[in-house]
This record gives sequence, C-alpha cells and structure tokens, in this order.
Amino acid sequence: MRRLGKEVYNSPRFQSSKQFIQHGEISVKKHCEKVAYSSLWLARKLKIKVKEDEMIRGALLHDYFLYDWHDDEHGHFWRLHGLKHPFIALRNAEEEYDLTDRERDIIKKHMFPLTVIPPMCRESWIVTLADKYISAGESIHFIKTRKRYNELKK
Ligand SMILES: [Fe+2]
Ligand SMILES: [Fe+2]
Repeated sequence: MRRLGKEVYNSPRFQSSKQFIQHGEISVKKHCEKVAYSSLWLARKLKIKVKEDEMIRGALLHDYFLYDWHDDEHGHFWRLHGLKHPFIALRNAEEEYDLTDRERDIIKKHMFPLTVIPPMCRESWIVTLADKYISAGESIHFIKTRKRYNELKK
C-alpha cells in the first residue's frame, strides 16, 4: 500500500492529517490508510481487476479536507461537512497532484449515496464500500469504549 501510494503517503501535507480527528480517536491519516488497505484487500480477495496504484492514491486522498470538522471554526457548517468535504478534498488534492479521472471520481463520489451521482468505475465503488465499512467500525468502537469508560467512572 505504501509502495503503491508512495508519493502521497510520503508528502508532509498528507502526514499532517494525523493531527485531525476523523471518528472517535482515529486520525484522518490513519482512517485513510485503513480505507486504502481495505480497498486493496477487497479487490484482491474478490479478484476484481483494478488499477491498484490509482485506487490507493484515491483512497489516501479521499478525505483530504485538512481541517478538524469537529472544531468551532468549522462548527458552523459541520452538518454540511458530509456533503462538502469530498469537493474540498478534491480541490486540495488537485493543488498538489495531477490526478487521473479515476482518482478524481474516487474522491468526489466516496460519500455516495449522500452525494447523489454514483461512482463511475470499479475503483470508486470499492473505496466507497471500504470507507463505509471502516467508518462504521471506527464509530462503533468509539461508542463502545466511551460507554465502558463512563461505566467505570460511575
Ligand atoms: Fe469522507
Ligand atoms: Fe472516509
């Protein structure tokens, strides 16, 4: 995964996304790595023919919005975060990289069906599914540990 997404993975800006929280206690960087790993695993497991390097780059950049969506500064539109962040991520990614159509599609459509237009390639569908699976796992884990913590505090 790190070999296929080397250029993105090694960039200081991508590395800086470890300061932003995605779900629970998981950083945006960690979340994107997990989505990239899972996408690759899924494609290989199901023997789906994909452009692995483009899928990995798209997965690493799919949440490249570069702000903390929980903080006060962005709090005024946090409800819209789900709708807006794919386009913010795409804009940030395009500032730095020459993206392919596949990579653009992965970033832009990964919130489908929230963003109404469906993915246009296999790579986008896989990243969309992997993102939902990983996000659900992170949120459930956070709720469970929070509950356990609150019970211990009683
Ligand atoms: Fe996202
Ligand atoms: Fe995500």
